[in-house]
Amino acid sequence: MKYITTPIYYVNDVPHIGHAYTTIIADTLAKFYRLSGEEVLFLTGTDEHGQKIEQAAKAKNIPVKQYVDNVSLEFKKLWDEINITYDIYARTTNEKHIKLVQNMFLKMFEKGDIYKGEYEGYYCVSCESFFTKTQLVNDCNCPDCGKKTNLLKEESYFFKLSKYQDQILNYLENNEIIKPKNKANEIINFIKSGLKDLSITRTSFTWGINLPKQLNDDKHIIYVWLDALFIYYSSLDDDKLEFWKNCTHFVGKDILRFHAIYWPAFLLSVGFDLPKTIGAHGWWTKDGEKMSKSKGNVIKPKDIIDAYGIDAFRYFLLREIPFGNDGDFSENAFINRINSELCNELGNLLNRIIGMSSKYCDFNIYCEDVKTYFDEELNQANSYIENSLNLLKDLQFSRYLEELFKALSLANLSISKYEPWNLIKNNETKKANALIGLCANILAKVSIMLYPALSDTSLKIAKALNYDINTKMFNDLILDKKIINFKAKETNLLFEKILEPKLAKQKEQTTQETNSKEQIKIEDFNKIQIQVAKVVSCQNVEGSEKLLKFQLQLNDNKIIQVLSGIAKYYNPKDLINEQVCVITNLKKAKIFGHESHGMILSAKDKDKLVLISPKQLVEDGSLIG
Ligand code: ME8
Ligand code: MG
Repeated sequence: MKYITTPIYYVNDVPHIGHAYTTIIADTLAKFYRLSGEEVLFLTGTDEHGQKIEQAAKAKNIPVKQYVDNVSLEFKKLWDEINITYDIYARTTNEKHIKLVQNMFLKMFEKGDIYKGEYEGYYCVSCESFFTKTQLVNDCNCPDCGKKTNLLKEESYFFKLSKYQDQILNYLENNEIIKPKNKANEIINFIKSGLKDLSITRTSFTWGINLPKQLNDDKHIIYVWLDALFIYYSSLDDDKLEFWKNCTHFVGKDILRFHAIYWPAFLLSVGFDLPKTIGAHGWWTKDGEKMSKSKGNVIKPKDIIDAYGIDAFRYFLLREIPFGNDGDFSENAFINRINSELCNELGNLLNRIIGMSSKYCDFNIYCEDVKTYFDEELNQANSYIENSLNLLKDLQFSRYLEELFKALSLANLSISKYEPWNLIKNNETKKANALIGLCANILAKVSIMLYPALSDTSLKIAKALNYDINTKMFNDLILDKKIINFKAKETNLLFEKILEPKLAKQKEQTTQETNSKEQIKIEDFNKIQIQVAKVVSCQNVEGSEKLLKFQLQLNDNKIIQVLSGIAKYYNPKDLINEQVCVITNLKKAKIFGHESHGMILSAKDKDKLVLISPKQLVEDGSLIG
């Protein structure tokens, strides 16, 4: 019985490959345990309360509930698209969850683990996390994400985290809970430096769970992390509570502290069992920076899948970085793995087996002589596969795949080494058939072990060689190391070689599309009046981060007012007396309560915007055409 969870993702952002990574890892482990015959519950979902979400909805001008429904659905759609076999899609706005969180809060309160006080310190809305002054970096920035924190001073309820310090330390030090091990040491050192009580309510916003009615204190909202962590428990139906005893959480290193310290403390307080394993992985970066929407370097899973397919995507994420390390997403590295591993080793082996079996044995592949001729190769392949099984159980996803590919290379190398075409020529038919039997058995074993990671591909292989992938086959071929016969059939290529990058191309196409507008006649163009004008004054517009308000001189007695959304790129005082180009026959418009009588021309590329001005000084009001 295994309970496997991903974090529940914040809905302030759409999913990117970081989220996909955690979810694919968890899905791989869930599929593996199901295949091996265990009962599995696999949870993923969304975290929908808190200040950050409230702000995101407000910025989009959508009612919060509608906003969270939309984004939560986006995550769910992506998971369905990339073969994620979750059993539970959990959302913190669910009524049952809300009630459970309130009950837990009351339980902790009645136990004496919660007290009322005042919080004074710093808060990072992006991480939904509290910090003391000394923890901040660059004076006032969050040590985790680098964004600006806010100084808070508000009435707050506190949880007695300090009371559980020794128990948590004991739990983590004696049970190998955190994997990989080096991540455990960081947490243990953090705990040893002393745990402070934790503020667990907020009063400055409303989008969250209220305190239990019994406490009669309406203005407080339960801290979003206390709310979110209990999702793992509240999502279990009554008849599934037993799964709680064997829980594996997957998280990114950014939220390990919440899962390895706060969560066990809350659980100890309410008297529930603690998680068995917490797998913490590193960050995917793009060109060395953590991927995040605010940095604008997000790679969308959908774009990759559309260009390269689901299994190539899953394979690359799982294989590219050792579990726990950070890794950079590079399209070239991705293509290399598709070509050299998925095409040359995996796809190629299937083709060779089908080709040989069609030529030499009418698609009937027998295993009876495999041990006679190729015992050593078979044992070697079995031992790679056994390693791979143990590595997967130990959450070493990249190494698990690496071992499977060693088995595939062994099969491919055996074909080159024993040259079945020459064996046939020399009338060593039995040996030639045994070689095909060896390769088909290695490929079948690999496909079974690969199924948790690349289920579509594994099923295609199984279909081509005519067997099923199920628990019985797992027991026979993987655990008992049996070999079997096959009846092969012609099949399509598993993976196409990639000759040139596709993502860059997609991007080019979209920019070309946006750049090319419909053709117009010269008469249409002549309708536009563009003039040179001198900036007489320029200031920010109150209440807008984008707008600047200009007074532009066209000639001695004509000054017009124009608003322009370039405040992010220019400091108003740097523009005084500069010449700009402006469309002067636009109908007047009202923007933020100010009239605008034209449009200033600028050029924009992917990282900057610049104003257009004549190369030499000309008379103000000069016509441009
Ligand atoms: O923290 N590389 O949600 P979140 C690798 N709601 N993994 C990444 C990543 C990256 N660049 N970016 C995100 C929250 N992730 C809380 C969790 S759980 C009770 C509440 C993955 O949307 C990784 O798993 O910020 C990380 O821990 C998680 O998404 C954070 O997701
Ligand atoms: Mg985050």
